[in-house]
Amino acid sequence: MSASPVSRMQFMMCAGTGCMASGSIEVKEALLKELAKRNLQDEVQIIMTGCNGFCAMGPLVVVYPDGVFYNQVKPEHAPLIVEEHVLKGRVVEKLLFKEEAAKDRVPLMRDIGFFSLQRLIVLRNRGLIDAENIDEYIARDGYAALGKVLTEMTPEDVIEEIKKSGLRGRGGGGFPTGLKWEECRRYESFPKFTICNGDEGDPGAFMDRSVMEGDPHSVLEGMAISGYAIGAEQGYIYVRAEYPLAIQRLQKAIEDARDYGLLGKDILGKGFNFDIGIYPGAGAFVCGESTALMFSIEGKRGMPRIKPPRSAEAGLWNQPTNLNNVETFANLNPIILNGADWYASIGTEGSKGTKVFALTGAVNNVGLVEVPMGTTLKTLIFDIGGGIPKKRKFKAAQIGGPSGGCIPSGSEGVEIDYESLQSAGAMMGSGGVVIMDNLTCMVDTARFFIDFCVEESCGKCVPCREGLKVMYDKLTDIVEGRGEEGDVEFLFELGHHINNTSHCGLGKSAANPVLSTIHHFRHEYDAHIRDKHCPALVCPSLIDFVVIEEKCKMCGMCFRNCPSDAIIWEKKKVARIDTEKCTKCRTCITNCKFDAIR
Ligand SMILES: Cc1cc2nc3c(=O)[nH]c(=O)nc-3n(C[C@H](O)[C@H](O)[C@H](O)COP(=O)(O)O)c2cc1C
Ligand code: SF4
Ligand code: SF4
Ligand code: SF4
Ligand code: FES
Repeated sequence: MSASPVSRMQFMMCAGTGCMASGSIEVKEALLKELAKRNLQDEVQIIMTGCNGFCAMGPLVVVYPDGVFYNQVKPEHAPLIVEEHVLKGRVVEKLLFKEEAAKDRVPLMRDIGFFSLQRLIVLRNRGLIDAENIDEYIARDGYAALGKVLTEMTPEDVIEEIKKSGLRGRGGGGFPTGLKWEECRRYESFPKFTICNGDEGDPGAFMDRSVMEGDPHSVLEGMAISGYAIGAEQGYIYVRAEYPLAIQRLQKAIEDARDYGLLGKDILGKGFNFDIGIYPGAGAFVCGESTALMFSIEGKRGMPRIKPPRSAEAGLWNQPTNLNNVETFANLNPIILNGADWYASIGTEGSKGTKVFALTGAVNNVGLVEVPMGTTLKTLIFDIGGGIPKKRKFKAAQIGGPSGGCIPSGSEGVEIDYESLQSAGAMMGSGGVVIMDNLTCMVDTARFFIDFCVEESCGKCVPCREGLKVMYDKLTDIVEGRGEEGDVEFLFELGHHINNTSHCGLGKSAANPVLSTIHHFRHEYDAHIRDKHCPALVCPSLIDFVVIEEKCKMCGMCFRNCPSDAIIWEKKKVARIDTEKCTKCRTCITNCKFDAIR
């Protein structure tokens, strides 16, 4: 990081989308004003960084050189931070992070479980550089890998090195990157293209956005290396238009790299020409599929086509094309600089390196985490994620986004790598992990993912277009109390049919959430159908909430939070629910600390 020559302290302020939305720019302005008021503006430097991955706790400020971590900072805290931390050298206790169950607050970022158990390769510059300053990227070995391949390696050497590293594509399929490049290099038709897939359509996923916003040069450098390896002179980044900050930072990074001679003609004087353009996508999930994405860049409707020919032979404008995910590209600089053996020493037999996950749902530390392949689900949920909030129980983890499957409690020991997840009935996907607690209905969850796929199906083939709608209607019948004997068998058969006969990856995996919840939670389907009861008390048509008298501690929390005045309560009296007024919104259930409502 570049500090001003006289600054003795740096405030690294998170300027990712999450922290900006919770007010980091306002905090920065308040801090600048406060520093100026005390004539400290030359002693303390404020640097705006990319996402730190802990967005729920934002706005975040990390103070260096010590690494003190402040969370949920507000503009009104600025005088306190300057007075206490800058002038008196004391940490501001109340802004330090505290785990839900812990007694004490933790001052240093490196001691917080959420950060300390991660291993950062893709996110190596997280929170450490100003994403809009190319010098800061270069100061942390940025573009050194491009320099190395152009000066010391042939394209074939680069491909061999990537093959040896064991790097597999992070976009979902896990295809070996080196093999993909090798195939593309073999075709001699020119021009060739390399494309970065930044479509990121999975609900809840923001791994790629974070890299594009926080470390855009790592993507550009990776693309230039791939261009050199396959023999392409032009790259495109396909990024969804809903990511305006990512687009803005990538655009600036491209212009700066051109100014520095790191993109454009005769890069580093080595005769290699390579440039990059940005193509904003309209946000359709199916446009993340390779062939649909290429049609979309060509200005056509984003619909998957039949393969062969594969993109390596005839992709964009029918020319040989390589497509990789954002995270795949961001891995390349460290692999080239540290060597394939170093990279292959991290992870498991079949899955090398690390993986970035978006950890969401019923977990204390929601956020973006990077862990070595082979990390157990238990470590991810309990040590890094801080466990399940409100002393509830872990029920299942949906891994792999809308095409993934769920791993139930009892299997927390499963290692997260391509093979183990598949054997456990889930998949890596692009890295979405949704944690579910005992208040989650698995039938309703499956219905949520099917609804998503119904909306996103491009409509080209019947099993996906029609089959998913039939599946959604059947699931709706079940959660609304119209389920009948035989429905589960019907769903099971239909699910396999859709998966086996759909044309592209969307339809081929769309039924997975249903098949996997039937496999692990069949009893919940049966309870909905036979007993007309939702065991997790989620499906409004199948529940009437009641207060369990023996458990009620008469605290009145439910009464104060009910939006429909449906709770009857007075001091020292057990609460009751007026079922006429109750809209079954579940607010009282989530607010009752004593589990007294069901
Ligand atoms: C419906 C669908 C959506 C996809 N969305 C994405 C996406 O958003 N990002 C991505 O990198 N790959 C996505 N993929 C996978 C890509 O088709 C492709 O395999 C990947 O970008 C290749 O890069 P990799 O080898 O680095 O993984 C999607 C696939 C399907 C079938
Ligand atoms: S499986 Fe679905 S998304 Fe894929 S081509 Fe068929 S209709 Fe379109
Ligand atoms: S919140 Fe729970 S314990 Fe408190 S009054 Fe309501 S039901 Fe009783
Ligand atoms: S479910 Fe909602 S409406 Fe019904 S009693 Fe509880 S808080 Fe009130
Ligand atoms: S945006 Fe600040 S931690 Fe993610």
